[in-house]
Amino acid sequence: MTEAAAPTERVRPDQALPITPARAAVLQEACAVAAAIHSALDLGVVARVTEAPAEPAAVAADCGLTQQGAQALFSALAGLDLLELGDDDRFRPASSNLAELAELFRPWASLQPVLRGESRPADAATTAGAESLYPRLVAQLGALFRQSAVHAAGLLVQPRLQVLDVGAGAAPWSLALAGRDPSCRITAVELPGVIASTRAAVRRAGLDDQYEFVEGNAFDVDWGEPASYDLALVANLCHLFDGEANLRLVRRVAEALRPGGRVAIVDILPTERGDGPRPAVLYALGLVLRTGSGRIYPYSTFRHWLGEGGFEDTRRHNLPGPYPFTLITGRRR
Ligand SMILES: C[S@@+](CC[C@H](N)C(=O)[O-])C[C@H]1O[C@@H](n2cnc3c(N)ncnc32)[C@H](O)[C@@H]1O
Repeated sequence: MTEAAAPTERVRPDQALPITPARAAVLQEACAVAAAIHSALDLGVVARVTEAPAEPAAVAADCGLTQQGAQALFSALAGLDLLELGDDDRFRPASSNLAELAELFRPWASLQPVLRGESRPADAATTAGAESLYPRLVAQLGALFRQSAVHAAGLLVQPRLQVLDVGAGAAPWSLALAGRDPSCRITAVELPGVIASTRAAVRRAGLDDQYEFVEGNAFDVDWGEPASYDLALVANLCHLFDGEANLRLVRRVAEALRPGGRVAIVDILPTERGDGPRPAVLYALGLVLRTGSGRIYPYSTFRHWLGEGGFEDTRRHNLPGPYPFTLITGRRR
């Protein structure tokens, strides 16, 4: 490299402030939490205690840990409220869904190879990838999203809505609407390999009477007459696809809606510069594990798609709940 081509801007450590002790402690704890959970999963500890309550010594023998290691790992998991210690000195899961929830975290272990472009467990932007990833996952997502979905339903509900739920998964968003208004009718669209999970979630909620199911790909399936729906839900779907695909999807959804009908997109949004907020950009890092073409998009991008796709009066609402969801609505011209 010639002298002229050398980088002119260098990071000067003396120009930046040091990380405060408080932030260093938070980051240290985050690394420890991640390492504890991944160790418990990979070493079979979660599976072992889900099978039967156990003392650390027994798990050490079964899972190939040292006594010291098992004791420290169990104490850490108890400190995280993932395990609890019974009066019989045995540890057991502190919640009924520990094993299922822990599976949600497993893909993080593949982050490095995925960042290097070496392998991705499944690409959810493809039908095959989505059908391998989502059948078991969506029930978990449905439970995690319930609080936000109930709030969104309060904003969207109107009497006798005909609703299209695109990429419904366990249908948390439309179930909240259906639960709120018995006159609401839902058409849930899902891929053939996932629709059984959608049907199961609706059955569990006891709301089958309000649902129809359409099995197929949201980009080309026949989901009914044009201009026949009042509301289209597109929840946590756009982040799987690239911009071109999302614009196609928005245009298809617009065709399905009657003039004056609304689209309701739910997603996690970054700032316009893509440098925060923290839960959104960490979520986006996890997305790299699941899609080769998708990402999270800022509000201006959704506005652009909706404008191009035939919508006006675009609005946004932040939804309460454990995930920082934004509800974006637009009205069909
Ligand atoms: C992240 S999940 C979100 C599910 C649900 N909307 C929610 O918010 O809980 C994405 C869902 O979209 C479905 N999906 C992905 N690609 C699809 C496509 N091309 N057509 C229909 N559904 C699709 C997946 O099977 C999965 O259930």
